[in-house]
Amino acid sequence: MTARQTQNDGRGCAVVTGGSRGIGAATARRLAESGWPVAIAYRSDDASASSVLRDIHQMGTDAIAIRVDLADVEGPMRLMRDARERLGPVAVLVNNAGIRADDLLVSLDEAAWQEVLDVNLTAAYRCIQCGLMGMIRRRWGRIVNIASVVGLKGNPGQANYAAAKAGLIALTRTAALESARRGVTVNAVAPGFIATDMTRELPPQLARMIPARRAGTPEEIAAVVAFLISEDAAYVNGTTLTVDGGLMA
Ligand code: NAI
Repeated sequence: MTARQTQNDGRGCAVVTGGSRGIGAATARRLAESGWPVAIAYRSDDASASSVLRDIHQMGTDAIAIRVDLADVEGPMRLMRDARERLGPVAVLVNNAGIRADDLLVSLDEAAWQEVLDVNLTAAYRCIQCGLMGMIRRRWGRIVNIASVVGLKGNPGQANYAAAKAGLIALTRTAALESARRGVTVNAVAPGFIATDMTRELPPQLARMIPARRAGTPEEIAAVVAFLISEDAAYVNGTTLTVDGGLMA
């Protein structure tokens, strides 16, 4: 069975945080194509969220959009509860929502540090905590955390973002160890330079540093997420897959 053919077999639904645009939107569409009812969480862009929902509904798949600030203490819990009540048990969780607030360490202020940690790392911890017990009880679950190559190697001007993504990779490994024998896998994807709103203002010359000589597409990340949640990936656990056109090689 290929990742694309994977059906959810009545297992429940998939939650994709930051599913209104970029990598999250591509992932939500891809999982819906595989038959997963999808709950997308987004912060503020109602029009983009509606457009993703429209696409998924046209496929004949259930989807809902939940507007929530995942930096709020209660946000992740509300998201996971709403998804469960409206679409059924959360069997797949993709922690994709992320922000950057770049500055050199000498001037990086504490608000920018905290904000990036809150969204990129703490929200993922909270979503996992809300969803993991149900997956363990049902003896099946898939968690995919969208990290970054910057969580593996650091990047000047991104101490907060790099620390959050490195933390997410460590969280991934530990969650995998704690749940592997219950049929739950927890993996991370570390994208390189992907063409989305987040990277829009970065200079296109950056592509010259990438062995593939181009930015990746959100769909190329979504394809890897679809693989990681498929039965084909049942024995892939606790790993971080770089998807970066060769950047980390
Ligand atoms: P994007 O900026 O296009 O989309 C971010 C999404 O996160 C949006 O849907 C937004 O609503 C949501 N979000 C942000 N803060 C939120 C909050 N407080 N509460 C709820 N939702 C919130 O980003 P993009 O490029 O699609 O990135 C997705 C993930 O991939 C992020 O975690 C990012 O760090 C990671 N990544 C992106 C790379 C790139 O080159 N674009 C490279 C490596 C990692």
